[in-house]
Amino acid sequence: MKAVIPAAGLGTRFLPLTKAQPKEMLPVIDRPCIQYVVEEAVRSGITDIVIITGRGKRAIENHFDRSIELEQRLEENAMDKELQMLREIEDMADIFYIRQKNPLGLGHAVLCSKKHIGKEPFAVLLGDDLIVNGKPGISQLVETFDRMGGKAVVGIERLPRESLSKYGVISGEEIENGIYHVDDLVEKPPLGKEPSDLAMIGRYVFPPEIFGHLEKTPPGIGGEIQLTDAMRLLAKQEGLFGQIVEGRRYDLGTWFDWLRANIELALERPDLGTQIKSWLQESVCEKKQ
Ligand code: G1P
Repeated sequence: MKAVIPAAGLGTRFLPLTKAQPKEMLPVIDRPCIQYVVEEAVRSGITDIVIITGRGKRAIENHFDRSIELEQRLEENAMDKELQMLREIEDMADIFYIRQKNPLGLGHAVLCSKKHIGKEPFAVLLGDDLIVNGKPGISQLVETFDRMGGKAVVGIERLPRESLSKYGVISGEEIENGIYHVDDLVEKPPLGKEPSDLAMIGRYVFPPEIFGHLEKTPPGIGGEIQLTDAMRLLAKQEGLFGQIVEGRRYDLGTWFDWLRANIELALERPDLGTQIKSWLQESVCEKKQ
């Protein structure tokens, strides 16, 4: 299976940090957030990856490319560990880049991958969602996709009502533990109009029929071609399941979760955990006094 990672957004929620660098390159501890997403796909056995980029996104290509001068320097200085780290990033996957010429929305970005994907099922992973746990988020959905005979599956999470207007929200009937048969979807419902408390997170497995629906989808909320609107057609015609993804999720599209991801992941690292923990305890206690 191939994967598509849309990375063409302007990152307006993260200004001024994203004025001159792609938001996908924002660091979580020691690596840019897009690397976690590529690693999730690779750990799920997906190594043919299309990244949809746009203007100002060169840093993403450079990150997964070879860096000859840097490698030479590391070799000369016998920095083997660092050298190995770079080579692992370069050899991680076969990454292809497609430019979305106009910022017409997430649905349009996915549609840009049609020629590369062809007539096969494929996965979509959004860079804003970081899922941390043993089993990669997307592989949980791929398993269900296979079990359900090739019907689309979207990752979902139960969220408090007040957060739902930032997401696409599904409604449907629970047919198995954590798996819902989706009967409707709404992109960013206004407060009080949510069809349920089940928000879509940025993980999807689609049959190729989604492309036909995307081609027919007119601009929706925000004047953009919304993936959610094409998924509504898919749900009605081919069927769609929502699956609660196990694991801890961070919405890296928000400052709070981005900071939380950095702190919580630092706490779990053997080289940083103890130091961060005692610093947090001290600083929180001091603030309380
Ligand atoms: C996109 C999708 C939305 C989904 C969200 C998950 O929204 O349009 O349906 O719930 O990703 O992160 P965006 O974050 O691009 O506004």
